[in-house]
Amino acid sequence: MTLPKAQYGQGDATYQAAGKFEGILKLVVAFYGYMDTLPEAQHIRAMHPKDLELSIDKLACFLSGWMGGPRLYREKYGVIAIPSAHSHLNIGSAERDAWLMCMEKALADQDYSTDLQGYLLKQLAVPAERCRNLD
Ligand code: HEM
Repeated sequence: MTLPKAQYGQGDATYQAAGKFEGILKLVVAFYGYMDTLPEAQHIRAMHPKDLELSIDKLACFLSGWMGGPRLYREKYGVIAIPSAHSHLNIGSAERDAWLMCMEKALADQDYSTDLQGYLLKQLAVPAERCRNLD
């Protein structure tokens, strides 16, 4: 679904445009697929458990609420603050950029307008930067 740019971020408009939970899950599966295979992402892949199933569910649930949809992460896993959830990890600009690269590629694989892709990548760069705790 395509919406005028200004409407993303209002209510659950982004969640709807992203295909609700089903669409978000597809996005997150593609995201972790890139993290699993891109040579540039191996340093961040190695921070994750071998089995990515729980990581996929957690990120998809988080993004559901983050996009204005149901707050599934909170219902299932409890309250989360993204920067402190990552404070035990060594995240510098290289790690942040590798994460965003996987997301950019995963977004491009979805049936999303270029506006929605651009909007999401720009918005996700904000929490990604807030996870950075090293140069
Ligand atoms: C900046 C680069 C980032 C790196 C290197 C990174 C890495 C990680 C790692 C290694 C985990 C632990 C996975 C596990 O134990 O299952 C994790 C968890 C998580 N990450 Fe990230 N992450 C980054 C950015 C983000 C961003 C921008 C978001 C949200 C938009 C996010 C959302 C989450 C969530 C929801 C969890 C699950 C936390 C939990 O329940 O323990 N991450 N991340």
